[in-house]
Amino acid sequence: MGIGRTGSRRRTLFLVLVALLFVAAVKTAAGDGGGVAGSEDGEGFLRLWTDGGGEGDDQENFFKWDEEEDDDEDDDDEDDDEEEGHIMMWGKKTGRRPPTCRNVVNVDSFGAAGDGDADDTEAFANAWKTACSLESAVFLVPAGRRYKVGASTFTGPCKNKMTIQIQGTIVAPEEPSEWDPRSPRLWLLFSGLAGARIQGGGVIDGSGSKWWANSCKINKSNPCKAAPTAVTLDSCRGVRVKGLRLQNAQQMHLTVYRSRNVRLAGVRIESPEDSPNTDGIHVAESSAVSIRNCRIGTGDDCISIVNASSNVRMTNIHCGPGHGISIGSLGKGGTYAAVENVALDTAWITRAQNGVRIKTWQGGAGYVRNVRFSNVAVDEVDHPIIIDQFYCDAAGGAAGCRNSSTSAVQVSNVAYRNISGTSRRAEAIKFACSDAVPCTGIVLADIDLRRSDGDGGGGEVETVCNCAVGFDYGCVRPAADCLRSSTCGGAPDGRRHDEDKGKQAEARTTPAPIRHTEL
Ligand SMILES: *[C@@H]1O[C@H](CO)[C@@H](O)[C@H](O)[C@H]1NC(C)=O
Ligand SMILES: *[C@@H]1O[C@H](CO)[C@@H](O)[C@H](O)[C@H]1NC(C)=O
Ligand SMILES: *[C@@H]1O[C@H](CO)[C@@H](O)[C@H](O)[C@H]1NC(C)=O
Ligand SMILES: *[C@@H]1O[C@H](CO)[C@@H](O)[C@H](O)[C@H]1NC(C)=O
Repeated sequence: MGIGRTGSRRRTLFLVLVALLFVAAVKTAAGDGGGVAGSEDGEGFLRLWTDGGGEGDDQENFFKWDEEEDDDEDDDDEDDDEEEGHIMMWGKKTGRRPPTCRNVVNVDSFGAAGDGDADDTEAFANAWKTACSLESAVFLVPAGRRYKVGASTFTGPCKNKMTIQIQGTIVAPEEPSEWDPRSPRLWLLFSGLAGARIQGGGVIDGSGSKWWANSCKINKSNPCKAAPTAVTLDSCRGVRVKGLRLQNAQQMHLTVYRSRNVRLAGVRIESPEDSPNTDGIHVAESSAVSIRNCRIGTGDDCISIVNASSNVRMTNIHCGPGHGISIGSLGKGGTYAAVENVALDTAWITRAQNGVRIKTWQGGAGYVRNVRFSNVAVDEVDHPIIIDQFYCDAAGGAAGCRNSSTSAVQVSNVAYRNISGTSRRAEAIKFACSDAVPCTGIVLADIDLRRSDGDGGGGEVETVCNCAVGFDYGCVRPAADCLRSSTCGGAPDGRRHDEDKGKQAEARTTPAPIRHTEL
């Protein structure tokens, strides 16, 4: 590759081009009274391309947010690892190096059977009460056992340094008809935790198969009803989730909601490709969320980021099968949504409907801005790069959605760099933006997508644009000249979004204390 002098000259030229683009974007934005904000955006966006190089020169350096906002003082990852080692040894009763300063609360001591059959819900609740009231507690779910636990809420904030150590398996009861009706959308809820760790290498299994069979997407004669999210972090701060396996969730696997400064690392999520609405990680109304080294394969989005989320960073993500990595959907039913500062760096997306996607409904308001998708390898993905401002999963298909001539969630400053691999469809790159509110600041750099050899493969790939303004830089294949000509008036066709059918109806039928914004 042309690294070295040519590369750096190209890179400099590229940054200059980006800067020019922002001058233009700010001028445009000034018309909406957004001049000042626009210029800040521009700077933020430029920083996206400096790869954290300008260290120390800017308090708000995008790449440093998680260190800055870290609420816990003395917890670098090495400490974590060492501590984890102690607890695990203790859990296995090796007797060596007992955690002298830890208050270990074993669910077994509270009567949990751990045989996969008896209901251990109450034992978990009682153990939690005790653990939460102790300093440096370890809520221990021991290895080698299987605990059947129904809908449960683990409320914090607990005393300092709470660790939830899941080494064994937690399974949900299988029968939807026996599910606690007071908790239609939640299985394991961690609420209001501050600085806690959830770790231990264990398994959380939603036993979702009967929920899936009942889903209106699978059995069309059934009404659309809610199903629980396996694990929800609500109103948490400084929580770390590390080394866990989630599988077969009834619906979504792991939701981060109304939280700040959350780190997820080494989480593995697995559900069948045809399981309905089983998003892997869902982020809503949260900021400073980092998702690292995760491997996700489900029947819906690997990661979805929705309303009121900012500073979300994803690194080293294996995704597929599923629907890809998504921002949205946003702006449904004319709602306001805001998502900004999202970065994906290094991902492998395989056998998925989409690679990196932004989806918004017609008629919404708000924005998605300052987004970077970089270093993504796609393999057998329908649409590796897609912005869809005509997203619609209404019951009647596209006809059930009305186009708005005046409003949409605005998409701006979205950069794609080093994305390569194979596309299953001709429309490898698709920017279907709204005539009312075009997408601006769309940048493609070093893109190499070709048609996969699979069924009907081997054909051409193309970039299609409607009302998308920006430019391409470096090698971009398929060519994206349409970004420069910015034609409006008729988005590309082939708009069929039945994938999420049912989610909206579910939200309507079952109000829950926690609002679910994924729809
Ligand atoms: C679909 O659901 C209906 C109503 O609940 C039920 O009678 C029918 O057996 C289900 N079909 C399948 C294939 O499971
Ligand atoms: C979006 O997030 C804001 C801020 O948390 C909230 O007030 C609003 O209700 C959310 N909108 C939707 C549609 O969920
Ligand atoms: C491009 O992305 C791929 C996939 O993540 C990565 O392996 C490769 O090193 C990247 N190339 C450059 C020049 O960063
Ligand atoms: C909305 O606009 C798009 C793009 O112009 C068009 O393809 C689609 O058919 C329209 N939908 C409706 C319901 O009018």
